[in-house]
Amino acid sequence: MPFIDRDFINDLSDRVDIVGLINKRVPLKKAGKDYKACCPFHEEKTPSFTVVPNKQIFHCFGCGESGGAIDFIKKFDHLDFVEAVETVASESGVSVIYDQNVKPVDTRFKRYSELMGEVNDYYQTQLKSSVAKKRAVDYAKGRGISGAIAKRFELGYAPPGWSNLHEHNKADSEKLIDLDTLGMLVAKKDKEGDYYDRFRDRLMFPIHNAKGNVIGFGGRVLSDKDNPKYLNSPETPLFSKSKELYGLYHCRKHSRKIDYILVVEGYMDVIALHQHGITTTVATLGTATTPAHLQTLSRATDTIVFCFDGDKAGRAAAWKALQISLPVMTAGLMIKFLLLPDGEDPDTLIQSESVKAFSRRIEKAQTLSSFLFDHIKSEVPFETIEGKTLFLEQASALINLVTYSVYRQQLVEGLAQVVGQDVSHVEKVVNQSKYSEPPMQDMHQAPPNFDISPMAEMVYDEPVAKKTPDNGMKGLMSKMINCVLNYPVLADDTVELRVRNLPKSNVLLELVHSAQIDDEISQQALIKPFEAKPRVYSRLQQLCVMEPSLSENEAKDEFLSALTLSEKQHQRNLTSASISTASTSADEKKIMEEIQHRKKPKSS
Ligand code: GTP
Ligand code: MN
Repeated sequence: MPFIDRDFINDLSDRVDIVGLINKRVPLKKAGKDYKACCPFHEEKTPSFTVVPNKQIFHCFGCGESGGAIDFIKKFDHLDFVEAVETVASESGVSVIYDQNVKPVDTRFKRYSELMGEVNDYYQTQLKSSVAKKRAVDYAKGRGISGAIAKRFELGYAPPGWSNLHEHNKADSEKLIDLDTLGMLVAKKDKEGDYYDRFRDRLMFPIHNAKGNVIGFGGRVLSDKDNPKYLNSPETPLFSKSKELYGLYHCRKHSRKIDYILVVEGYMDVIALHQHGITTTVATLGTATTPAHLQTLSRATDTIVFCFDGDKAGRAAAWKALQISLPVMTAGLMIKFLLLPDGEDPDTLIQSESVKAFSRRIEKAQTLSSFLFDHIKSEVPFETIEGKTLFLEQASALINLVTYSVYRQQLVEGLAQVVGQDVSHVEKVVNQSKYSEPPMQDMHQAPPNFDISPMAEMVYDEPVAKKTPDNGMKGLMSKMINCVLNYPVLADDTVELRVRNLPKSNVLLELVHSAQIDDEISQQALIKPFEAKPRVYSRLQQLCVMEPSLSENEAKDEFLSALTLSEKQHQRNLTSASISTASTSADEKKIMEEIQHRKKPKSS
């Protein structure tokens, strides 16, 4: 195993979902605890290819082929070992850690990266020399972008027409295939081997990874009559918008020291702030803030300042960012919120007020705790007993998400002060608070848009007679319910079988079942079976009126990753339950051996 960090490979098998990985390539059918299919590695009519999720392995009783996720991908996708590890990692939302002592080998990823560099050069050249460049240059100038800043951010231009990038690369058919994989060309449906340019007549913003390699693009229309206003690269092996932050590379490169990082909403905001000397700025790529973003940010700085427009959408986005932040709070990390005046964004503000004035806004940004209390206060009639009760309940539920004990205690004390009650009483309320969400066990795997949905109760629709371990199961369940309500199409029979095996999954199962029969079912029809259970029904109705915050693909990822996490957690809960009831030391030994076995990396 040269080039990829050995510990990383050892851990990888614990972090992947072998069923999901294989199912994407060979549709699997559930058979008891395992999954079956006709073997992809030899000809057969009856299925003898088995996937065993408990052990994270596959085995074919016909031809004897067997191994773990990496072995499967290697053989099925015809990849070498390094490529297989990279593929498994990328499909599982995990970034590969390379061995620092050796250079990475020449893999697909290096080739992709070089090609994106070429595309970047191409667009930059077009901004300088294409016959249509004038409109793009005028547009950039009109937005106040200086030449120096355009150069710093490597702005480019995708000229009008369907076949510019395509023509430019036509001589090399392998390149065309790669450009399709990288989202720069789109394959024509009716003509195999033919492509058209994804980005046409747009000002191009290359998106860099931490190393400075271009991994994707955003493209803005030049006229507000055209749409969509911004087009981003789709998800590709190099680019995942729920993880990347625009401008982080430039922030590191152009800032002497990073006292804080300002998180803004748009490309133009980052660029305008740089131009005015505020370089410690990044933007999310048209998505809500995710736990993965937070993890990246907290490695780069100890003060994160979320900056949003002061309108309704901005406040909602800020609130979402707060919810994601609570479980991540650790010693030394400071998270703040800056809401701008309604109708302004950093780009417009920094052009109309002085840098000093804008910097003062950053300095005066609200602390997380103060934003938390203020926001809930604004949503309830705080002067009434009922309002105060609601306030206490909602704040407690959120404080209960904080796992960093020192901060949690401070929040409890702060809350006690706001409601004017004893700390010990408030502490009790917090500890008993119902909506306790799972701590982020693994921020890479945690799905985006971690949302506090008021659904915990209905997940516990079954009476909670005996206290069984939960460890975040209900939070995951809420997420899955949310996804299915918005995108019934993601339920299929494999999903239904997997959900059936989860504990306390009756609400989700019913939804998945109906969705699977009719994937165009309306939300109202989907929740109709629950009419007889008023509490559950009203919760579901509340969810239905919320705008979906995820695209279909994001929801699919979120759903499958929550499903996999639930299965793993359920397995762990069962194991710890069996350890605690193991009557003889022989039983215990067997269980421990099984755990050890499961943890052991597959030697390849
Ligand atoms: P300007 O009008 O250029 O100033 O845009 P902005 O930066 O003010 O953008 P806005 O606040 O409208 O959006 C913020 C960010 O959301 C953008 O930078 C994009 O990343 C993303 N975004 C905006 N509009 C669209 C769109 O139509 N489609 C997609 N996919 N993303 C968008
Ligand atoms: Mn703007």
